[in-house]
Amino acid sequence: MCNSDGIEIDPSVLDNADDSDYLSSGYDTSTASLTSSIHEYVFENGRRYHAYFGADKNLLPTDEIEQDRLDMYHEICLGLLHGDLYKAPIAEHPQRILDIGTGTGIWAIDMADRFPSAEVIGTDLTPIQPAWVPPNCRFEVDDAEKAWTFKPESFDFVHARNIAQGISDWPSLMRQVFRSTKPGGYCELVETGTTCHSDDGTMTETNGVKVWMETIAAALVEIGRPPASAEAMKKHLLDAGFVDVEVKTVREPLGPWPKDRKLKNIGAMVLMNCQTGFHAYGLAAFTRILGMTKEEADRICDNAYNAVRNKNYHCWCPIYVAYGRKPALLEK
Ligand SMILES: C[S@@+](CC[C@H](N)C(=O)[O-])C[C@H]1O[C@@H](n2cnc3c(N)ncnc32)[C@H](O)[C@@H]1O
Repeated sequence: MCNSDGIEIDPSVLDNADDSDYLSSGYDTSTASLTSSIHEYVFENGRRYHAYFGADKNLLPTDEIEQDRLDMYHEICLGLLHGDLYKAPIAEHPQRILDIGTGTGIWAIDMADRFPSAEVIGTDLTPIQPAWVPPNCRFEVDDAEKAWTFKPESFDFVHARNIAQGISDWPSLMRQVFRSTKPGGYCELVETGTTCHSDDGTMTETNGVKVWMETIAAALVEIGRPPASAEAMKKHLLDAGFVDVEVKTVREPLGPWPKDRKLKNIGAMVLMNCQTGFHAYGLAAFTRILGMTKEEADRICDNAYNAVRNKNYHCWCPIYVAYGRKPALLEK
């Protein structure tokens, strides 16, 4: 069965209509582990949040459950980008690379391994990066929305992935990115969209994922951090002064429904990721911003996860990869 120009559905997931749950048919998604430290953190709704820059700056928890999820999501992105860490046609031997909102630093660490002669810096609101990293990689705790101290025109490549929920003023951030990028250097932004689609009509208005996506989008709009779109990301780059801007949209299957083996494995990882992902994004946003009770927030997150577990829904959501080049000196 073909999902229009996209992802073909594995016919076997359509078998056994009575048994619609992936988990009861062999996809074990149990991953949770938990340790805790109260150092500079607040606990809320059973999750740990970093509070150094103010509790509302980062709506995502920073505990080990979330760190595991971020590392797994890195693998999902790598799979969807065919093993590539980036899509921009950057220099063969970049000297300095910056990763804004680096999270666990997994992308920065991989880039440092990939380019041993480059210096790779990852910045984040929260110090959850490992201590043992390649010698050419380091991390700084920083709010990317505050004034940067990096030298102008000092990075060959500036990268940011899935930071939109923490950004209130993209034009201002992008001005700093542009200033810090060397002429001829690149910026790449990667964001997962908050829309959900199917090509076989199995995504309905009442689908739990759709409800969750609309609710998180409403919360982010409410605090002036609208969710990413291809158009907005293109505009961020162009308005800042980047040229040759390209935006690619990749489809992330929610669940192991694709027929294609590789996409099925990615979908299985996404299913596992969703086990904590809906709550990671939803709990603080729904309770703090939309004023829901923990029970109401849990119900929306649980419904979304149950929809992803359901073999009868063949949904995907877009991941946008946008990049642009800072004009070389002679082009100015
Ligand atoms: C969903 S995680 C993504 C982590 C990493 N980029 C990745 O793809 O694995 C979002 C990260 O962005 C960071 N973040 C959000 N807003 C930020 C800001 N204003 N300055 C620095 N980091 C920020 C958060 O602390 C969090 O670690």
